[in-house]
Amino acid sequence: MSTVLTIGADADLVARFTEAGSSDVVALGVDALAEGVLLRHLAGPDAPDLVVLGAEVALADSFALAGQLDGAAPGTSVVVVAFTDPELWIEAMRAGVRDVLSPHASTADVAAVLERAAARAEARRVASATVPQAPTRRVVVVASPKGGVGKTTVATNVALGLAVAEPGSTVLVDLDVQFGDVASALALVPEHTLPDAVRGAASNDPLVLKTYLTRHSSGLHVVAGSDSPAAGDAVTPEEVARLVDMLSAEFRYVVVDTAPGLTDHTLTALERATDLVLIGSMDVPGVRGLRKELDVLGELQLVPAGRHLVLNGAGSAGGLALADVERTVGAPLDLVLPRHDAVPLSTNTGVPLLMKGGKDPVTRGLQTLVGRLAPAAAAGKGRRGRRRVGAR
Ligand SMILES: Nc1ncnc2c1ncn2[C@@H]1O[C@H](COP(=O)(O)OP(=O)(O)O)[C@@H](O)[C@H]1O
Ligand SMILES: [Mg+2]
Repeated sequence: MSTVLTIGADADLVARFTEAGSSDVVALGVDALAEGVLLRHLAGPDAPDLVVLGAEVALADSFALAGQLDGAAPGTSVVVVAFTDPELWIEAMRAGVRDVLSPHASTADVAAVLERAAARAEARRVASATVPQAPTRRVVVVASPKGGVGKTTVATNVALGLAVAEPGSTVLVDLDVQFGDVASALALVPEHTLPDAVRGAASNDPLVLKTYLTRHSSGLHVVAGSDSPAAGDAVTPEEVARLVDMLSAEFRYVVVDTAPGLTDHTLTALERATDLVLIGSMDVPGVRGLRKELDVLGELQLVPAGRHLVLNGAGSAGGLALADVERTVGAPLDLVLPRHDAVPLSTNTGVPLLMKGGKDPVTRGLQTLVGRLAPAAAAGKGRRGRRRVGAR
């Protein structure tokens, strides 16, 4: 039942609140208003459901307090004790008063006020529970200590899965500045590449930047890697930082493919990452490398809240058990992708696995990863995605 705080109300009225079933009635004199502690208390977690401003409180003061409480304690209803007339009602409601109670109110009148306050509190509780959450923005960095372990495969497929699940949501950045092959993995012939996207007007105008992106048939946007290693190398970490910041203001998901190891560009992207997909290969050096990279990133405090450990190419090397791998890495693996012929076929034809929607375990594993990064996509539209994520 409701908790009630009365201020400057006469004893009979206070008693009626108890009779009407309030669980906890605290009665204070008008001097409580002068102390200034009242507002602080009412804005705290122990705020009563109802504040009753009695006949001893001047109406002007009641209205002023109601206005303040409206913002400071939205869970508390303010009731003013006064002889009601329609004009007073309107003025009171405008001031933020929720109910007006006659000084001669009966227990039934008080019970009705309590009931209305409870209904308002319930409506507010439901409304606040269904307030749509601000969409989460994510910067997903795909990295690994070594090359040739599946970074580009994972980055392109994850980005594609996100782009299809939420149209217009995703951009993929090829930060393997020397030997990036995202464009090739997606069979794109880009007009502009990374160096174009970080210089000139594109570097400070999102509209211009968008014209430098290459669009894949799935709807995925791409910042393609440089066509010359030298030009790619000239891109500075500061330029990368600005690019990632600008893209994450425009796109819900920024997926970043990287060069092997911890280059300055990768570290810069990681400073902005919400998620790290760290990939290791299924061999002893690959597993040790994974451990080492995790340790280094931990020391640098660059492991973001979303960490996804992926072992790729499982089943390819004899003698390594997953339990041993996890012991060496020092953490459970989040995803294990087996070796499968569908992968090189997809790389060579430039048709990502998630566009074909095959039933092979690598495609299914990559879809699971998309679901980890975009739970909403997995629960809703992603169901469509689970069968077939893309279509040309
Ligand atoms: N699970 C797998 N099974 C078979 N081949 C794979 C698998 N993962 C990746 N590959 C192949 O390995 C090669 C390197 O993959 P890639 O994604 O380019 O790695 P990285 O970006 O880390 O250098 C590609 O030819 C790709 O087709
Ligand atoms: Mg690569």
